[in-house]
Amino acid sequence: GPLRVLVLGAALRAESTNARLAALVTRLAADAGATVDLAALHEFDMPLYDGDVEAADGLPAGALALRDRLELCDAFAISSPEYNASVPGALKNAIDWVSRARPQPFRTKHALLVSASPSLVGGNRGLWALRVPLEHLGTRVYPDMFSLGRSHQAFAADGLLTDPGLQQRLAETVTAFLGLVEADARYGCLQRR
Ligand code: FNR
Repeated sequence: GPLRVLVLGAALRAESTNARLAALVTRLAADAGATVDLAALHEFDMPLYDGDVEAADGLPAGALALRDRLELCDAFAISSPEYNASVPGALKNAIDWVSRARPQPFRTKHALLVSASPSLVGGNRGLWALRVPLEHLGTRVYPDMFSLGRSHQAFAADGLLTDPGLQQRLAETVTAFLGLVEADARYGCLQRR
């Protein structure tokens, strides 16, 4: 069957440009033949990680829900802002909780990382920081990350990027990512469930 891809917008605010970028990645992946599940981090409400809470109650419902969505995908994409040149705390907290699930769902999955930022240079430093916990957890993070600068004015009304060169590069990045996932599913050691 078609590849199943979870796309997670990792900012909490309603008008998030990362949510818009996640929606665009969703559209491009669907155009490329994938079955896409678009999610937003605010759907997965959870407290700050606390070992006492885990010992008493196990994983919170929001973390289990995110775990379930990850379990159902062959690969995932995250669109995350950069906060102070690093991973936003809410996203790191979600990764920390979900990493406590067994089987640990980040393991062996391919991931595409993208970022939207109002700054000129985009959120690339945050994506480099995001690689650290994901690679630690066994995720195969795609080498080519996409960082959208001036994100507050980068989108046209139809949801595409106004800059055709950037739009094309994003489309090519998504297509190449899915090609790698497909090739790994067919000939490699990726576990499809
Ligand atoms: C930011 N922002 C930001 N942007 C950036 O490019 N580099 C950075 O280091 C930071 N640091 C930072 C810290 C904190 C605490 C906040 C709240 C914000 C700006 C950030 O990119 C912007 O506010 C949005 O989060 C962009 O994403 P959304 O919300 O449109 O998806």
